[in-house]
Amino acid sequence: MVEPMYPSTRSDREVWLKEARYNLFNLLSPQVFIDLLTDSGTGAMSQEQWSALMSGDESYAGSQSFDRMKEVITSLCGFPYILPTHQGRAAENVLFSVMVKEGHVVPGNAHFDTTKGHIEFRKASAFDCTIDEASDTTLYHPFKGNLDISKLENVMDVYGKERIPMIIVTVTCNSTGGQPVSMENMKAVRKFADRHGIPVIFDAARFAENAYFIKTREKGYEERSIREIIREMFSLADGMTMSSKKDGIVNMGGFIALNSQALYREATTFNIMFEGYITYGGMSGRDMAALAQGLKEASTFGFLESRIKQVHYLGELLKEAGIPVQEPFGGHAIFVDATRFLPHVPREEFIAQTLAAELYLESGVRAVEIGTLLADRDPETRENRYPRLELLRLTIPRRVYTRNHMDYVAAALINIYHRREKITSGYKIRYEAPIMRHFTVELERIG
Ligand code: F0G
Repeated sequence: MVEPMYPSTRSDREVWLKEARYNLFNLLSPQVFIDLLTDSGTGAMSQEQWSALMSGDESYAGSQSFDRMKEVITSLCGFPYILPTHQGRAAENVLFSVMVKEGHVVPGNAHFDTTKGHIEFRKASAFDCTIDEASDTTLYHPFKGNLDISKLENVMDVYGKERIPMIIVTVTCNSTGGQPVSMENMKAVRKFADRHGIPVIFDAARFAENAYFIKTREKGYEERSIREIIREMFSLADGMTMSSKKDGIVNMGGFIALNSQALYREATTFNIMFEGYITYGGMSGRDMAALAQGLKEASTFGFLESRIKQVHYLGELLKEAGIPVQEPFGGHAIFVDATRFLPHVPREEFIAQTLAAELYLESGVRAVEIGTLLADRDPETRENRYPRLELLRLTIPRRVYTRNHMDYVAAALINIYHRREKITSGYKIRYEAPIMRHFTVELERIG
């Protein structure tokens, strides 16, 4: 779908950003020129997806569109039991309603914020077991989404298997920079989990991008097809939660896929309560039809190569200009290391958010903070949790922008980089919600 773009002037943006209380989520889309807030639900559907939309079967029960979607998921990922949900966090809500209880500990690789939110909401805790290399943006490691098995062992020693309902493997790992997990690491997690009898659940929003990186970076997979790699990845999990808004290339949707019939049956009750009947779960028939087609398209090498190379093109432009970025580049976004970009802004003043505001004022480009605002407060001490990385995420929607847009984004950031010494202060909070504050936070400029 071709969408309009909205140019603006710096003085327009000064007014709009102040009105938005310096929270970029509060901007209206006509106030944004190039929108790199997220790659979630913002992709452009193909002609085959639009035509599939017209064939949607809207029956309450027994929809053929559900059947088609189920067939595609099962043939791609191998799981026989599928529950549709309206998006990824809804899949988490339903599955965790069965699996996560008060006092539980859920290890994983830098859990996404809604995942962590659903765990903490149930008075359980999320334990980050990502490899240490992931938090050094200057270090090359081909799989910075990998889990550190010795950290998993530590969690096991401290809490015991009774308190660990599952291990979550996020493919690709959004929070560390869209970084992939290697097949070798997935196998090691599987082995660990089998030893202790713990299920492994993949948070699979960007599973196809992960498969692309395995094919292009992991020894022994060069000649394997994307679909073969995907199948092998999921053979190492007991189930998955999916936000279809990413590698499903649809605007809305999600699902749970499982091997265990018993778990599926338990989850079914919550799905019916929270989402909808088991053959639609919060999705229209037409959306399930478009998703079935989108999953097929996303699992092709041609699509993945053009998408990921576009992201990397932007990364190269920034790197050439000396801008500190997470390397190697990930799948869906380029992550700028805001602490190294703006060394004079104190971390208490939200470094990555300060850079996001500067970029918007400079150019009308909307990026997103992956830093202290997102990391929230510790649920017990209520102190700010300062993450190891303060990142600005430039997230590229699928099949929407061109190289020319990437050039514009790079030019804007390079302009700011040239005057970075003059940026010495950031923001303070005027209002924040008790959980997931970054969506609705209101800020005030310091200085
Ligand atoms: N898991 C991961 C890894 C995600 O990136 C997201 C969403 C979700 C789960 C939740 O899915 O949005 O469909 O409810 N990520 C978006 C983003 C919002 O901008 O990265 P959802």
